[in-house]
Amino acid sequence: MARHTLKLLIIAGARPNFMKIAPIVKAATAHNALAGNGEPTFAWKLVHTGQHYDTKMSGIFFEDLGIPAPDFNLGVGSGSHASQTANIMLRFEPVCLAEKPDWLVVVGDVNSTLACTLVASKLGIRVAHVEAGLRSYDRTMPEEINRILTDAVADLLLAPSSDACANLRREGIAAEKIHLVGNVMIDALRDNLRKAHNSRILETLDVKPGQYAYVTLHRPNNVDHRESLSAIVARLRKLAARLPIVFPIHPRTRKMLADFGIVCAGLPGLNIIEPIGYHDSLCLTEHARLVLTDSGGLQEESTYFLTPCLTLRPNTERPVTVTVGSNRLTSLATLEDDLEETLGLEPRLGRVPPFWDGLTAPRVLQTLMAASTAKPARQDREAVGTGSFLTANLRF
Ligand code: UD1
Repeated sequence: MARHTLKLLIIAGARPNFMKIAPIVKAATAHNALAGNGEPTFAWKLVHTGQHYDTKMSGIFFEDLGIPAPDFNLGVGSGSHASQTANIMLRFEPVCLAEKPDWLVVVGDVNSTLACTLVASKLGIRVAHVEAGLRSYDRTMPEEINRILTDAVADLLLAPSSDACANLRREGIAAEKIHLVGNVMIDALRDNLRKAHNSRILETLDVKPGQYAYVTLHRPNNVDHRESLSAIVARLRKLAARLPIVFPIHPRTRKMLADFGIVCAGLPGLNIIEPIGYHDSLCLTEHARLVLTDSGGLQEESTYFLTPCLTLRPNTERPVTVTVGSNRLTSLATLEDDLEETLGLEPRLGRVPPFWDGLTAPRVLQTLMAASTAKPARQDREAVGTGSFLTANLRF
């Protein structure tokens, strides 16, 4: 019997998205290897937009996560939001026209996500958005604009949590497009735990489990203004006197420190290092006494490891990390008190939220399959399948 093949174009582009596509690629490969005669398979191609291009921001993640080399590299590089988004669109359109995929699969909320969604949807290619429905309700965040617009035109909204489903319904998105599949970042985390446990980063940096703070800060709202960045460095100087800090520095943050002439190299206890790979980052998160961050991914990874996390932002699009997990929002005004209070708490906090079970990528693929058949669309509801259902039916 002829096999039906679903053609997917999967978009990678910037650092947080590599962890989100890796489990999908892996699950599609595993499915194909085991698919029976007549069972549909996936033919996928990977597009790297080149939004992130440095080895430490991109190449190392392909290596760490075992992602195959992209089939297309658009090589857009950095630029203003308008030029980066426009360049991705210009370079992605010919790929869509040549490949004619059944589905574009986009993840997360970076400029690459939105740019590729706009191109595909205008060409009549169906778009599946993984990590749909997250909202910070803060439109000063470029990612919030990307989320809202991507979700508005995507055909399949694959949400990580029930709050995300509720956000989408509130925006008037048809219920049959919305599917609660869980958190795909956690698939990657669980897949990579063994390698993370083999990381030597603690020894290399000479820090002990439970006796350091892991800091990452790169959001424009925090680092693009002289006042906030100097205030952050002043707070870190104080914290470092109490607890050693490991701070892998994002290129944006390094550039802004240099532009503003803020010196923090050589401060006692403040270990500023180059961006690190995935396994080293997981290892640092698991063993930290606390995490201080403005990254979405680290809020989730801290929650999974039950590591206390302070998020230096007035809001989060991942509220489950606060309501269920170990995360708490903080501000420059309250940071010192919040740090003190957190250091007085148990070293492990919170719980792991629902659907952070490592089976999200199979659920994504199962939903794609179901949406591609002529059967009536499913209603928005709880997750599309349990582990055993997936194992039996999709053989991941
Ligand atoms: C982007 C995402 C953000 C994500 C972050 C993770 C958007 C709108 N933002 O922000 O959601 O949390 O990635 O890193 O998509 N640079 C390099 N090398 C690189 C990439 C960037 O040096 O490989 C420098 C460039 O100076 C660039 C700056 O970092 O201008 C910012 O990069 P950009 O991709 O514009 O945004 P991010 O701040 O990384």
